[in-house]
Amino acid sequence: MKIWITGISGQVGRALQDVLERHGIDHFGTTHAEVDIADSEQVRPYIDRATHIINAAALAQVDVAETERDRAFRANALGPENLAKQAQGKARLIHISTDYVFDGRLRRPYREEDETNPLNWYGQTKLEGELRILTHMPDACIIRPSWVFGGEGRNYASLMLDLMRQRTELRIVNDQIGRPTYAFDLAEALIAMRDESGIYHYANHGSLSKYAFARAIWESAKQKGIPMACERILPIHASAYPTPAVRPLYTPFDTSKIEQKLTIRPWREALAEYFEEKRVQKPVAI
Ligand SMILES: NC(=O)c1ccc[n+]([C@@H]2O[C@H](COP(=O)([O-])OP(=O)(O)OC[C@H]3O[C@@H](n4cnc5c(N)ncnc54)[C@H](OP(=O)(O)O)[C@@H]3O)[C@@H](O)[C@H]2O)c1
Repeated sequence: MKIWITGISGQVGRALQDVLERHGIDHFGTTHAEVDIADSEQVRPYIDRATHIINAAALAQVDVAETERDRAFRANALGPENLAKQAQGKARLIHISTDYVFDGRLRRPYREEDETNPLNWYGQTKLEGELRILTHMPDACIIRPSWVFGGEGRNYASLMLDLMRQRTELRIVNDQIGRPTYAFDLAEALIAMRDESGIYHYANHGSLSKYAFARAIWESAKQKGIPMACERILPIHASAYPTPAVRPLYTPFDTSKIEQKLTIRPWREALAEYFEEKRVQKPVAI
């Protein structure tokens, strides 16, 4: 077994590398500069070297995707399609999708077979990626996480901590509800699911608002003695914080399908580990 991680310098790519090293599993990774996953010529030589591909490459910045549409489509739809097309019959593909394939209007936790209806371009390109993969490789494994945090690089927890270090007051959306996913738990799940097929929802247990999650990060940082400028965090409605891309307001997952294969811990436990591991003490650029 040899696993190829695409997008190795991203948040999940780096977590995967860390976990694979810890487990002593043979692997190699490529950065965007080394391999653009949508480029057939660049991808080809790597397919032959791997038994499994975990595709951690994507344009995952939701607002950037809204304005840089071609770049997002290339990374999130054409890239996954290219990997599936070329890997078919040669290597297994484990792909990462998102809760943003849903519109958030269901008002109960989303199951894998629920109707998709992305509200923004990022979600549309990610859904297109899923569909194109399954056309070329029906036995691929697609894991949809939500609100990924805690890896190195840009993510909700590092962004909040940076803002808390810089500002005395934060206003955070209180009507967007979801389930956070710790990048290192996701990495373990992606590896555990490497020989499975189909679509699976994965997130840590417990759903909450972005505001409540920011407060939990704040409390943990205070307990840890991390110096911060932040004195208060105020709840606001999403409508008071317009962004280039519209976000779905309610996307907690039903994770019972994947829980037949692995166990999932609560986000609080994962957040505690994030602070214990001192990953937060390295300031991250926004
Ligand atoms: N972050 C979240 O909250 C979240 C939530 C749900 C699902 N996800 C999914 O989780 C996966 C990993 O996200 P992440 O948080 O690790 O994102 P990330 O930190 O932005 O990492 C993505 C990596 O992919 C690379 N990349 C972009 N386009 C590429 C291309 N065409 N070819 C090869 N590499 C390319 C990027 O390189 P450059 O930066 O150099 O372009 C970056 O290193 C993605 O599929 C994302 O959609 C993320």
